[in-house]
Amino acid sequence: QLKQNRSAKLALFEYNKLCLTEERSENMKMSKNAPCWCGSKKKYKHCHEEWDNTVNVLRLQGQIVPEHHLIKSPDDIKWIKKAAVINNGILDELEHMIHPGMTTLEIDQFVYDYTTSHGGIPADLGYEGYPKSVCTSVNNEICHGIPSDKVVLKEGDIVNVDCTTIFHRHYADASRMYCVGKVDPEAQRLVDVTKECLEVGKAAVRPWGHVGDIGAAIQEHAHKNGYTVVREFCGHGVGNGFHEDPYVMHYGIAGTGMVLAPGMVFTIEPMINQGKASLFVDEKNGWTAYTSDGKLSAQWENTLLVTEHGIEVLAW
Ligand code: MF3
Ligand code: CO
Ligand code: CO
Repeated sequence: QLKQNRSAKLALFEYNKLCLTEERSENMKMSKNAPCWCGSKKKYKHCHEEWDNTVNVLRLQGQIVPEHHLIKSPDDIKWIKKAAVINNGILDELEHMIHPGMTTLEIDQFVYDYTTSHGGIPADLGYEGYPKSVCTSVNNEICHGIPSDKVVLKEGDIVNVDCTTIFHRHYADASRMYCVGKVDPEAQRLVDVTKECLEVGKAAVRPWGHVGDIGAAIQEHAHKNGYTVVREFCGHGVGNGFHEDPYVMHYGIAGTGMVLAPGMVFTIEPMINQGKASLFVDEKNGWTAYTSDGKLSAQWENTLLVTEHGIEVLAW
């Protein structure tokens, strides 16, 4: 009897120690009727109490769980959506604009004018010294192609336009592929399969699933089609900043990595290569990544919100 009491006490002691760790203290202080930490202005018991309970159980099981700062408030989501309206508008307009003979600098000028005239800020401009308002990556360029009046688009080119808009200090990030005139069937297939890679990645997102589910699904689809996945660049949390946790790999193992909880906002942005996965970065500009074998690369990017039931796509 005495021995049993002792071990029960010891277990309780160990449990309390776990509860008093720093992460755990985030919601230890929360009383049921206090306004929720998420900024909803609802009572905690009617808002994120259950969310915290779920996260705390997962944490005790040894899972990597998101901290509260990765959970967007209703206000954050409102502003991210406004940034996304501008961003989506830009990428829609470009569908009609891109044509043989256009320079990538003209794309950049359009992005700057559209963004600023709608009250937004192009997030790329000046970001870590980046010189332009948008990234335009043509053919064998994987990402971070810098718009230039020297790059004249020609029939058969495939170009990724990756655009990020800031509105009221909130960010929306998306990119699409554009085919210049008629492109050859193999280029078209790469563009299409890369879009499918984004879609299977999105379909793998489940509330209380794992970030590794996304990469595993994308990798499988790319390999099945004879393509490779770029490993040096990944998706990312976004919204209150440009690049937040978690990093979203486009390869990996299902059931691993951070738990995906309702309220998280992040991008999925697979870069898929026709040939080898390896790359090199432009020595002169320090930005542009090219396929090491000179073959084509494609990319599509969305910003999405994890909901109780699945996802809401915010920027596309
Ligand atoms: N939009 C890119 C992304 O998807 C980042 C571009 S950063 C820049 O994360 F500086 F190159 F513009
Ligand atoms: Co982007
Ligand atoms: Co991004």
